[in-house]
Amino acid sequence: MSQPEPEPRRIAIFDTTLRDGEQSPGVALTAAGKLQIARTLDALRVDVIEAGFAAASSGDFAAIRAIAGAVEHATVCSLARCKESDIRAAAEAVAPARRRRVHTFIAASPIHRRHKLNMTPAQVLKALRQGVALAAELCPEVEFSAEDATRTEPEFLAEAALAAVEAGARIVNIPDTVGYTTPAEYRELLAGLRRVLPSHVVLSVHCHDDLGMAVANSLAGVLGGAGQVECTLNGLGERAGNAALEEVVMALRTRHDVFGADTAIRAAGLCEASALASRLSGFAVPPNKAVVGANAFAHESGIHQHGMIGHRSTYEIMRAGDVGADSRLTLGKLSGRHAMQHRLRALGIVMADAQAERVFARMKAAADAGTPIDDDALRAMARAEAQAQPAEIADLQVTAADSRHTVRLKVRRGSGQGQGKGTARTAAKAIARAVARALGLEFRLESCRTGEQALGDGTAWVAEAAIKTAQGRFHGQAQGAAEHEAIAHAIAHAAAVLGGSPRRGSVERTARHA
Ligand code: KIV
Ligand code: ZN
Repeated sequence: MSQPEPEPRRIAIFDTTLRDGEQSPGVALTAAGKLQIARTLDALRVDVIEAGFAAASSGDFAAIRAIAGAVEHATVCSLARCKESDIRAAAEAVAPARRRRVHTFIAASPIHRRHKLNMTPAQVLKALRQGVALAAELCPEVEFSAEDATRTEPEFLAEAALAAVEAGARIVNIPDTVGYTTPAEYRELLAGLRRVLPSHVVLSVHCHDDLGMAVANSLAGVLGGAGQVECTLNGLGERAGNAALEEVVMALRTRHDVFGADTAIRAAGLCEASALASRLSGFAVPPNKAVVGANAFAHESGIHQHGMIGHRSTYEIMRAGDVGADSRLTLGKLSGRHAMQHRLRALGIVMADAQAERVFARMKAAADAGTPIDDDALRAMARAEAQAQPAEIADLQVTAADSRHTVRLKVRRGSGQGQGKGTARTAAKAIARAVARALGLEFRLESCRTGEQALGDGTAWVAEAAIKTAQGRFHGQAQGAAEHEAIAHAIAHAAAVLGGSPRRGSVERTARHA
């Protein structure tokens, strides 16, 4: 008999963008900005929002209170040293929240005890017992952090953690305050603590990125038994930052096979939340940033693009849409014909192979010269190529009967020639249908204006036409000896950017709707 799948472990996401993130040198969020980020985090369904450090300033206190009053789902938390005034301020600041927590901390490592606190281990234990006990009196939920835990004697760390639990902490956080630990070491540390702490206690990880291991260490902590990960949007935080929330969440989700754990995060909001944090903090998201960077789902080299056109899974391990991003084939000097044709088609531009080959050559030359190949640049190249070989209208015949016009015409471009027929109430619409048919394109005439103009001894007709495709509106202008001829040329001109290759024998399959 097959065993039922074990339930995935639910990992709580504790976001500290508004506290540790705001401690990044150069970041100063306004009260309104903090509230906006808090609402976004709540919509993402983070479990805990650390809204600030209430005792730090009256501004911080007011911002935490405003967030506590506004957040609907998440627990709102304030940081506090193991100091009576800090703890009272934190408890008061989070009081309006539906779910609230005081997060109190004291440094535990010998370096911090000696050079920062000037306290003995016994004094640290006494202070943390008093601090946690007061916090538990004032707030239903208390988290304790042993600052610089990864450089603390493991026996003393366990003693401090047990003391905090006895005094009323339900969550014990093991911060890698200076980003010093390694995944294997941290996993072992967490697993050791897991063995000595009662099962109702949630172990938490909080990792800094000084050696670029914050996310890896946090995930190792999860493997060691942590049930909460502290992290920030875009990895904002002191010095090199904290573990990035979006990376932790997507690593747990994508490698469920390894971690057997998941979060409650609505990942489709990750890119938007990241963009907001970036805009309000003034810290740009690097294009190559995992999960939320502009290039995280962009493919430029020809080999990769070819793979991606074959199947997304060749070069993407997550679906872009799952994090609110778009997968893109970007064009550059390493891109191949497939990707360019793919993009042209997405822009509604249909080209014969020979013509597309010339656009490809133009694109490569421009990319080699350092020109970014965005959609506008590609459209301009396609237009230039189409205009280098304009579509010529020939054998235009317009007949009218029973208030309908029927148009037959031929279109020549380069060595290709096609013919088309169109029927409609107006001659201009019938001409547009015939031109579209002859070029193998799909568009409809949106507007057409004509007028006579003096030209030398005689007159000429001038026409302006606008056509509409799924990709947008295109305009063309032309002259002709007769009105219908001017219209046909203006429409062919408007359609030039769409390329199109003349089709032989397409007359019989002409569309007939009004
Ligand atoms: O990095 C750290 O140790 C902290 C604690 C206050 C949790 O931010
Ligand atoms: Zn920190």
